[in-house]
Formats: sequence, structure tokens, C-alpha cells
Amino acid sequence: MSEKLFKHKLYVKKNSDVSFTPETLEKIQTIISHYPEGRQKSALIPILHIAQEEFGGSLNVDIMDYVAGLLNITPIEVYEVATFYSQFYIDPVGKYVIEVCQTGPCAICGGEDIMHYLEEKLQIKVGETTEDKLFSLKGVECLGACGSAPVMQVNTEFHEFLDIKKIDEIIAKLRSESEFKKPEELTWKERLS
Ligand code: FES
Repeated sequence: MSEKLFKHKLYVKKNSDVSFTPETLEKIQTIISHYPEGRQKSALIPILHIAQEEFGGSLNVDIMDYVAGLLNITPIEVYEVATFYSQFYIDPVGKYVIEVCQTGPCAICGGEDIMHYLEEKLQIKVGETTEDKLFSLKGVECLGACGSAPVMQVNTEFHEFLDIKKIDEIIAKLRSESEFKKPEELTWKERLS
């Protein structure tokens, strides 16, 4: 195996103890029971959402292996799904995950300028998190609101018809909201509220 493959983030397994609370396990059994016998893999996406929420906002190899064990599927089946959908994070992320649409309609309506402006304003590059762990910046494919381009999503909230002024207002609002509690003091549920 090459040095490059050894350094892949999915290769770093920490063997940390990972387990859901009994209450969460009960919830998960209920979700699995909605699918026919032998089709438990269909519950993977909702369970990954729960795992991401419970284990600090992102997924690592130990968490994904644990989920694979619960569903009696192979770890690679979990990695494939977790790395395909942009709403799952393999790297730790900040309190606010800013996802800027990079697909054609948004790009030609100023999406690229929005991304560059955010990089400059937050002093990070796409894929990075600010030092204070407040913002992570990501580029994503079509967010399904092409008619309102350019568009970005911050956690679960959509922002459409973006321009520099709107970006300044959004970032200022998020910064002022975050002053009430430090990012590391927030649960993932609080981050989404
Ligand atoms: S192209 Fe940006 S939302 Fe569809």
C-alpha cells in the first residue's frame, strides 16, 4: 500500500469505545423494524444522522464501524454512504457548516465570487474550519434551489439570492449568536437550533 493511501483519513482508526445510549439503541431498533427482514441496510441513512448528532457532529471510522455492526453490514457499505452524501462529515466541523452551491446555475450567478469572499472573510480555504471552531466552509453540488441562485446552506438553514451584503449580515448574526455559548460547549442538537 502506498504512503498516500496510509494517510487517507478513513484509514485512521482510533479503536475508541463507541456506543449509543440504551434510549438511542431503542430508537434505532424501531427504525430498523420499519424495513423487511434482511433489508436492515435501508436504515443506514437515518442511523448515520443519529450517530453524527450523538457523537459530536461528525463521523469517524470507529463510529462507522459501530454502525456497520449494528446493521450487520460491512464497514465499506457504511463508508460508501457516509462519504457520498455531503450532509455527513468525516472530519470534525465547526459550529456552523457553510455549504456553498458550486453547480452551474449558482456558479454563473455569482456563486464562485461568494465562495471567494467567504474564504477571504473567514480566512480559511474550502474544506477548512476557522481556528475558533465556529465556521467550516464547504463546496457542495446543487442544493435544489437553482431558481434562487446563488445559494448556500448553513447547518439546516437555506440562504438564497446571495450577495456580499447578505453574507456580511449572515456571518455577523451567527457570530453574535455564538457569543452566548462557546462552540465546544454546545451539543450537536443545539448547533442545529
Ligand atoms: S445550482 Fe445551486 S441550487 Fe441548484
